[in-house]
Amino acid sequence: MNDLVLSGQKKIAWAKRFMPVLTEIEKDFVEKQVFSGLKITVCIHLEAKTACFVKMLKNTGAIVTATGCNPLSTQDDVCEALRADGIRVCAKHGVSMEEYERHLEESLSDGPDLILDDGGDLTDIIHHKMPHLADNLIGGTEETTTGVNRLKNLAQKGEIKYPIIAANDAMMKFLFDNRYGTGQSVWDGINRTTNLVVAGKTVVIAGYGWCGRGAALRAKGLGAKVIITEIDEIKAIEAVMDGHTVMKMDDAAKLGDIFVTLTGCKDVITKEHFNVMKNGAVMANAGHFDVEINKNDLLSLSVSHEETRQNIETYALKNGNEIHLLAEGRLVNLAAGDGHPAEIMDMSFSVQALALRYLKEHKDELLPGMHYLPEEINRKIAKIKLQSLGAGLDELSPEQKSYYFCE
Ligand SMILES: NC(=O)c1ccc[n+]([C@@H]2O[C@H](COP(=O)([O-])OP(=O)(O)OC[C@H]3O[C@@H](n4cnc5c(N)ncnc54)[C@H](O)[C@@H]3O)[C@@H](O)[C@H]2O)c1
Repeated sequence: MNDLVLSGQKKIAWAKRFMPVLTEIEKDFVEKQVFSGLKITVCIHLEAKTACFVKMLKNTGAIVTATGCNPLSTQDDVCEALRADGIRVCAKHGVSMEEYERHLEESLSDGPDLILDDGGDLTDIIHHKMPHLADNLIGGTEETTTGVNRLKNLAQKGEIKYPIIAANDAMMKFLFDNRYGTGQSVWDGINRTTNLVVAGKTVVIAGYGWCGRGAALRAKGLGAKVIITEIDEIKAIEAVMDGHTVMKMDDAAKLGDIFVTLTGCKDVITKEHFNVMKNGAVMANAGHFDVEINKNDLLSLSVSHEETRQNIETYALKNGNEIHLLAEGRLVNLAAGDGHPAEIMDMSFSVQALALRYLKEHKDELLPGMHYLPEEINRKIAKIKLQSLGAGLDELSPEQKSYYFCE
């Protein structure tokens, strides 16, 4: 067995130790062979936690193909470990966008019955380049906010060709993965990449959604002064009440030492902002696509740029300042770190596993379009997680119940 396989297997085994809900669900799924004979294509960040999920699908009888949703987050040792297990993997770390798209298309070549997408690229290919695949598809799931936003757009035009569950919008996903997972892993990625201190710095977080809230909370805990930029007035007030300062990016740009974009929107930091930033400012994106920090603008304002440390490009601006962009503006926590903690992805992948089974079991009822995971499935995951944490849950007596529910 080669070193790459061994390294991947070790990472996977470590993650699996901290995924009790997925392990519990796996026991039941394996016994019933719930995905027996079904072809499942999984397009997601290819690292150890994902591998636990992919292996689980295989153990439940599925014929699984795995591909990455971002070439910088693909870990080659994990891919090799999966290949050693007989899983088809179409991915390689750091490939060009053309190669990345070729991998996505290759991952669909066996005509899957079910797909799991993260960010909507696979769904886009099926809808616009390979529509014939939709005929065989029982359904799909979508892992992240940006992918769900793309689905909502398709849904508005009535163009979704098969049932797709917005897994991101399940409570047991976004409340934990987006908030606490991103909240922690963004700082893990930034700290590992830069080896700088956060305490005492001014951190600007763009977007106070689920991910932004988490990243801001952790920045505060690390001792930073936190500034939030938002376009939604209600979220902006929430940020104020949470103790942060809220202002426009035009003003925040002059004050920040570290910038983190988490909006799912494009052009959040652009030309006018780079020009007024402090010398030495650090910028990282953790939104799904590398469009939040405008790299063309950055290039146009620079006299030169070079890799000054792994995953850091330093731009020397015409105004004499240097600013640093982490991970080429791609998801910093996955491109420069290992992503979310295993205990968090335990819940996200349990959502995904139960969503795929739900699609299979309800295939005759579900119409093409976007669907949500039923609440009882969220509650089932929460109960198993609580049990695994040794936490107790009170139950109401009949008297309490009738009082509480005004029966
Ligand atoms: N890095 C990760 O591991 C990770 C994990 C989950 C989600 N994501 C991605 O992060 C992004 C945010 O996800 P979320 O779940 O927090 O979404 P969300 O919809 O809950 O929050 C996004 C917030 O950004 C605000 N916003 C939009 N455009 C803005 C702009 N130009 N300036 C300032 N604020 C703006 C919105 O009002 C909203 O409050 C998405 O792209 C999502 O796919 C990344």
